[in-house]
Amino acid sequence: MRDEHSENRVDVAFEADMYYKRMLKSTASIRRRTDMVPSIAVVLGSGLGHFGENKHLNIVAEVPYSEIEGFPRTTVAGHQGKLIFAEYGGKNLVIMQGRVHFYEGYSMQDVVYPLRVLHLLGAGTVILTNAVGAINPDFKPGDLMVVRDHISFMVPSPLIGENVSELGVRFSPMVDAYDPELQKLVMEIGQELGLTVHNGIYMQLTGPQYETPAEIHACRILGADTVGMSTAVETIAARHMGMRVCTINCVTNMAAGVGDHTFSHTEVLETAGRGESGYTVLMEKLIERMPC
Ligand code: HPA
Repeated sequence: MRDEHSENRVDVAFEADMYYKRMLKSTASIRRRTDMVPSIAVVLGSGLGHFGENKHLNIVAEVPYSEIEGFPRTTVAGHQGKLIFAEYGGKNLVIMQGRVHFYEGYSMQDVVYPLRVLHLLGAGTVILTNAVGAINPDFKPGDLMVVRDHISFMVPSPLIGENVSELGVRFSPMVDAYDPELQKLVMEIGQELGLTVHNGIYMQLTGPQYETPAEIHACRILGADTVGMSTAVETIAARHMGMRVCTINCVTNMAAGVGDHTFSHTEVLETAGRGESGYTVLMEKLIERMPC
């Protein structure tokens, strides 16, 4: 469906109708594999994919992205590329093991496409996870941060182009984008488990290069505590669709120029892997206690 501004427009780069029809095809293609209706979507980031192999999950179906019509495919090491439908703690989950990024060459509309499909399948809440660099000097590799707010204006909005009115409104508010109740729950669970969980501001940049020390200094002046390449635009698309969002950052390194250590993608994956056991228990307890 078109909004009231689109009647006379002939050549927009992004066609809402085509995008929406493609989503319906992806949804149908997944429905041929499972009829489970998920209430919670979980997106697992770099080095954090093992939650999907957690023995406590009762796995109902696994669908590789390559077998879903219209789905983008992930090209990054550490991102596995499949949907896992599972039951856990009385809740129906759909887990995205691996995501696609803007720096892989996808448009922002494609970057958020899988999450939009998960919403059409039924998910009303999403838990987003990712690896981040710490800008705040009081943080350490291995710490977690539940996101309170984000700064995304360095990257294109995933809502640019004709509005898909079946999914949401043209001008989405972003106040309280991060569900306050879920933030509080993550902080409480972190404390119970003896994990260091901060609450702060996440900044998204495009990557794929890591930042210069001057860029990180600028991010700090703007008020960011962590920096990464993924979850803010997913939050924007999720909020556009009215989903509840909870984002958990896993600090894998101090950002460029914060301390004197240089780091690599391999180190990011290793640190994320080392922190995974605490983070997995936190995710389990969060899902068990989530109100939906
Ligand atoms: N910068 C951007 N993205 C990241 C970083 C970083 O330092 N670490 C993990 N993802």
